Amino acid sequence: MELTVAITGASGAIYAHRTLLHLAASGAVERINLIMSKAAETVARVELGADLREADAKKINEWLKLPPDSKLVRFHRLDNLAATPASGSHPQAGMIVVPCSMGTLGAIATGAGTNLIHRAADVTLKEGRKLLIVPRESPYNAIHLENMLCLAHAGARILPASPGFYHRPQSIEELVDHLVFRILDQFNVPHSQATRWKGDQSKDE
Ligand SMILES: Cc1cc2nc3c(=O)[nH]c(=O)nc-3n(C[C@H](O)[C@H](O)[C@H](O)COP(=O)(O)O)c2cc1C
Repeated sequence: MELTVAITGASGAIYAHRTLLHLAASGAVERINLIMSKAAETVARVELGADLREADAKKINEWLKLPPDSKLVRFHRLDNLAATPASGSHPQAGMIVVPCSMGTLGAIATGAGTNLIHRAADVTLKEGRKLLIVPRESPYNAIHLENMLCLAHAGARILPASPGFYHRPQSIEELVDHLVFRILDQFNVPHSQATRWKGDQSKDE
């Protein structure tokens, strides 16, 4: 399976990082097309201390703890509108925007895109492939909510960055992984099942 993952400048760079780590570890994905906005670089620095400026394959492999010669992740520059995710004729399963800023959400919802993230999302929708949006803002205004509804009507799946707590997370990573595993579920990518709800036994006879 081939997927595109876009990281934008909403808070929650750790969601993107752990989504990529788990996709890479799953063995179910042969190629990840990675695109990052400028604001995403800033947020990754602020929140994770990661220097992703002028990123290239080597830097990304280091960030994801992959071997230096790994070809799993293909990094595309934001202004490269000739990259494979920009064309519907390039087959892939779908695209994840994690986390998705309200700016990128608005650009995709209106179809008035200006960069490779917007174009790849537009292509994903027009080809009827799965577009998974993980929005992050608080509170939402009416424009954000209308844009999300518009995208849902266009076929996107909205999976808000709202992790559950019923697996009793003991660390930020365990909390984040609750959401990351929901993302993986959308593409039937296997994972540890650690956060899967197994039913409330106390209610059984
Ligand atoms: C540390 C930090 C956190 C931010 N958090 C959010 C957020 O949670 N949601 C959001 O929509 N924008 C957030 N922003 C603002 C976006 O980065 C900004 O609107 C940017 O233009 C989005 O561009 P992009 O969609 O191309 O990534 C944040 C910015 C910074 C620096």
